[in-house]
Amino acid sequence: MSQDEVSETNTDSLITTDVQSESTDQTTETSKAETIVATESLDVYYDNDQAIDNVSMEIPTNKVTALIGPSGCGKSTFLRCLNRMNDLIDIARVDGVVTLDGTNIYNDDVDPVALRRKVGMVFQEPNPFPKSIYDNVGYGLKVQGKKVTDERIEEALRGAALWDEIHDRLDQSGLELSGGQQQRLCIARAIAPDPEILLMDEPTSALDPIAASKIENLIDELVEEYTVIIVTHNMQQAARISDKTAVFLTGGKLVEYDNTSKIFEDPEHERVEDYITGKFGWTRQRILMDNQRSQIKTHVLSTRRQPPAPQFNERLSQLGNERGQNRKRNGGVADGSTTDTETYPPIGEHVFSASLSLPILSE
Ligand SMILES: Nc1ncnc2c1ncn2[C@@H]1O[C@H](COP(=O)(O)OP(=O)(O)OP(=O)(O)O)[C@@H](O)[C@H]1O
Ligand SMILES: [Mg+2]
Repeated sequence: MSQDEVSETNTDSLITTDVQSESTDQTTETSKAETIVATESLDVYYDNDQAIDNVSMEIPTNKVTALIGPSGCGKSTFLRCLNRMNDLIDIARVDGVVTLDGTNIYNDDVDPVALRRKVGMVFQEPNPFPKSIYDNVGYGLKVQGKKVTDERIEEALRGAALWDEIHDRLDQSGLELSGGQQQRLCIARAIAPDPEILLMDEPTSALDPIAASKIENLIDELVEEYTVIIVTHNMQQAARISDKTAVFLTGGKLVEYDNTSKIFEDPEHERVEDYITGKFGWTRQRILMDNQRSQIKTHVLSTRRQPPAPQFNERLSQLGNERGQNRKRNGGVADGSTTDTETYPPIGEHVFSASLSLPILSE
């Protein structure tokens, strides 16, 4: 058996020992169950400050789950719990249980690197490595110990809906692509190791509306094969692309979690309704959904002055652009100091430390 074949076999397990690998095989049946990830009484603290407060939720497989809520309510923190990215923050402490396919990912015998192969991540700023398009995707394969072949590169780029645009320039630097293409390259890099779950933290917030809509369409396709958990500040986006929506409010509390149509049409909690409607500054709104996600139509009803639809969309685009520009001004591209692909840490860790300028990480 070649080394490549050995690696590919072993990486199916979160746990590295042979005995545990066998028991993981037995959980294949469990993975067919509807819930792929579950949290139970999850608390996260940064030093003494609580960022997630007693969150229990079950996330269904092969669906899009959106996490929404005001800035600072803990969405990114929650997302990072799902692939133990908070382990990389010294002052972060996670209590409670997070299971993936029934295994508690915070068990001592779970290998976080193996976990992150199963739970890939895409960040708000596109951050390809300063390498060719080919090597960016190849990196995703290498971290899984898989052989980098032209076929696999093509498969990942096709999966990220990028192949047709760039197949004749695979040697070009990933940094020379447009923002939207860069983000799809990052998605290709994330799906190359064939994860089960894709975590996306505001993946379109730095993109123009056309590039954003390409990513949205892509998410709609990705969910056939993967489970997608996405943080977004864009209510329309959450309504358009997600099956389930979780609303976090200040203090890291999960206030409501339900089918997306229920959250937007008839939420149980007044605070959720206030948040969703307040987001648009109108007294009342309805986002009505077609059964076909891609054909969802948004209708805004108002008991007061209702701006015409074009203004509404224009303002949303403008807000999106301003947000993207602000983020660009704040930096956050990949670390150009590393030149050897082999020396990169696991994808999530590299991207995480390169894309955030939090004090704890920038020391
Ligand atoms: N590395 C860190 N060190 C200390 N505190 C942190 C760190 N990361 C986040 N926090 C704090 O945890 C809380 C939740 O932050 P988090 O980034 O998860 O919020 P968010 O909902 O993703 O916000 P946004 O919508 O602005 O991205 C905030 O009070 C934030 O200041
Ligand atoms: Mg965030």
